[in-house]
Amino acid sequence: MLEVTELTKYFSSGLIRKQYQRAVDGVSFTIKNGETLGLVGESGCGKTTVGRLILRLTKPTDGTVLFDGIDLFALNRRELLAIRPRIQMIFQDPDSSLNPRMKIGTSIAEPLKLHGTIPEVKRKQRIKELIETVGLNPEHINRYPYQLSGGQNQRVVLARILALNPDLIIADEPTSSLDVSVQAQILNLMRDLQKEFNHTYLFISHDLDVVRIMADRIAVMYLGRLIEIGETRDIYDHAKHPYTQALLSAAAVDGKTEQNVLEGETSSPLDTPTGCRFNTRCPYREEICAIKEPELVEVGRDHYVACHIA
Ligand SMILES: Nc1ncnc2c1ncn2[C@@H]1O[C@H](COP(=O)(O)OP(=O)(O)OP(=O)(O)O)[C@@H](O)[C@H]1O
Ligand SMILES: [Mg+2]
Repeated sequence: MLEVTELTKYFSSGLIRKQYQRAVDGVSFTIKNGETLGLVGESGCGKTTVGRLILRLTKPTDGTVLFDGIDLFALNRRELLAIRPRIQMIFQDPDSSLNPRMKIGTSIAEPLKLHGTIPEVKRKQRIKELIETVGLNPEHINRYPYQLSGGQNQRVVLARILALNPDLIIADEPTSSLDVSVQAQILNLMRDLQKEFNHTYLFISHDLDVVRIMADRIAVMYLGRLIEIGETRDIYDHAKHPYTQALLSAAAVDGKTEQNVLEGETSSPLDTPTGCRFNTRCPYREEICAIKEPELVEVGRDHYVACHIA
């Protein structure tokens, strides 16, 4: 469904000319039809940027993205508009997803109108169906976002996305703003919808417990690089990269990923360490680690690690 190759985004720092922030740096992965790939890593490692690049909301520096065999970066505006409904994103900031001045029904009708898939007479019926599919009541249709809870609004966001019949959904921390009990409800809903409609998910999260439930495979990022990728069980039981191991051990202690799980600060993407980016914080560091950047190497079935030591 999705084939990402050497995806790269350098942001110019704006302060000093020719200084770049390597937000995403040569990231490659694939997602199969109907599969969920979890994308994890510390704040600022480039997760949201990966999502935005796939959607072409951010202009790539380099790389290719094939979606169902279609080269997304080669599309012109019109072609892009035609394919847009098939790739949808749930944004990290929930307040930015719904127009506060628009009634829920109008919000859900918007994508239906814009992409004109359903004749006007049938639209009302379709909105009612969508509202029910995400577990809301028809009475919510005439309310405004401020009259609903955070969890209910996230259901509206899902209804809006479902209206377009997408194949791929990029979910960027879809539940991080919600209470734990509501989080579980939304995650269950997303899993049910995935089964029903055969969605493919790129599921971005800080929360390793959430990713463990949701993802078939997990990709771990560090400072713009993909450092480990594999099946969820292999990552949890046999993590090979010292950074993945540290993330998991921190999660085991307090149930959540800490922003800083290791000694030392994350180096800034503005001044990326030479060699392995993790070498400045790595307890197993050897000479080569500061010299040569490790490539992803297969260490087990469908399990890849970028580490000289592992
Ligand atoms: N528009 C932009 N201009 C300049 N730098 C940017 C821009 N967007 C992101 N960055 C930088 O790129 C890096 C990656 O940001 P990104 O938002 O992708 O991280 P993230 O992994 O999603 O973090 P979080 O977990 O906090 O959401 C950060 O250092 C960020 O400051
Ligand atoms: Mg983010």
